[in-house]
Amino acid sequence: MDARRAESLKGLDLRAEIDRLRRERRAVILAHYYQTPDLQDLADFVGDSLELSRKAAETDAEVIAFCGVRFMAEVAKILSPGKIVVLPDMEAGCSLEDSCPPDEFAAFRSSHPDHISLTYINCSAAVKAHSDIIVTSSSAETIINALPKEQKILFAPDRHLGAWLSRRTGREMLLWDGSCIVHEAFSETELLKLKTLHPDAPVAAHPECPAHILDHADMIGSTSAILKFALESPAETIIVATEPHIIHQMQQKAPHKRFIGAPGADGNCNCNMCPYMALNTLEKLYVALRDLSPRIEVPEEIRLRALLPLNRMLAIASGAATDLTPAQTTPPVTGD
Ligand code: 13P
Ligand code: SF4
Repeated sequence: MDARRAESLKGLDLRAEIDRLRRERRAVILAHYYQTPDLQDLADFVGDSLELSRKAAETDAEVIAFCGVRFMAEVAKILSPGKIVVLPDMEAGCSLEDSCPPDEFAAFRSSHPDHISLTYINCSAAVKAHSDIIVTSSSAETIINALPKEQKILFAPDRHLGAWLSRRTGREMLLWDGSCIVHEAFSETELLKLKTLHPDAPVAAHPECPAHILDHADMIGSTSAILKFALESPAETIIVATEPHIIHQMQQKAPHKRFIGAPGADGNCNCNMCPYMALNTLEKLYVALRDLSPRIEVPEEIRLRALLPLNRMLAIASGAATDLTPAQTTPPVTGD
C-alpha cells in the first residue's frame, strides 16, 4: 500500500468502517482458513475451497469480498456472474496456478484425448475451461470413485494431491508436475523431532504435502477435515501440517487443546505460511469494499466453459447424478 493511501486510512476504525460498507454495499465477506485471524474474525463465513464455492453460488448478496487467493475469487465470479466480486489484493495468486499455464495444459489434454481431465480447483479460469471436472481436496475422492473403473484420468496441477488420490482410490492417474510451495516447505526431519517431543500428538496433514510428510500423518484431509479432526480427536495436543493460520479456528473452538504447526526447514521459519494469502490485509479489504475494486472479471466465453466442470463438481459432491461425458469439444482457450 502506497504512503498516500496509508495516510488516508490513519485514524479510521477499520473494523467499524468495513461493517458499515458491508451493510451499505449489501456485501458478504468470505474468507479461507489460511487468512490472518483479523480477516477470519470479520468474515461472514470462513471455510475450505468447496464450502466457499458453495457459499459464492448461493449468496443473495450484491457484492462478494473474497479474502482468499485469486483463483478462489474467480470461482465466485464464475458461479455468480451477476455479482461484483472484489479481492483485496489482485496479486494474491497461487504457486499451483502458476505451475499450470493454460496453453501448456491445453496441449497436455489434447495429447491424451482418451483421458478425462480432473483438475484441482487451484488453477486459473482458463485451465478450468479446458477441464472435464473440477475437484477440491474435500470432493476429489468422491468424484474419482464416481467415474467408471475403465475411465482413464489425468490430474492437474498438484502432483502430491494426485499421487495421494491415486493411492487412496487405487486408480492410476497421469499427473501434471505442479506443487504448492507452502506444503512442500515442511521438513520431515523437523517433523520427526516434533513427534519425538510430543509422542501422543497425532499429525493431521493436507494432501498437498509430499509423500514423505504424509507418511507420518495420522489423518490426511482438506482444511475443513483437518479442523474437524483437531476438534474431535481426544488428543490434547495435535500437530497440524498445513498453513498455520487455520490454527486460529482450532484455538477459538477448543481453547483447552494445544495445536502445533508442523515446522519448515530450519524448524522456526515462516516458510509454512502462504505468501499469497498474506497479501490480503484489513486495510486492503476496507479499500476494496469502499472502491469496489480490485474487481474480478472473467471473459464470458471462458466463464461459460469453466462453469460446466465446476457445476459437475458441486453436483457430484452433493450426491446428485451427473453426466460425466467429457465435453471439451469447443476450440481451445489460449489464456485470460
Ligand atoms: P482446501 O480446499 O483444503 O481449503 O485447500 C485449499 C488450498 O489452497 C490448500 O493449499
Ligand atoms: Fe496455493 Fe499453496 Fe497458498 Fe494454497 S497454500 S493458496 S495451494 S500457494
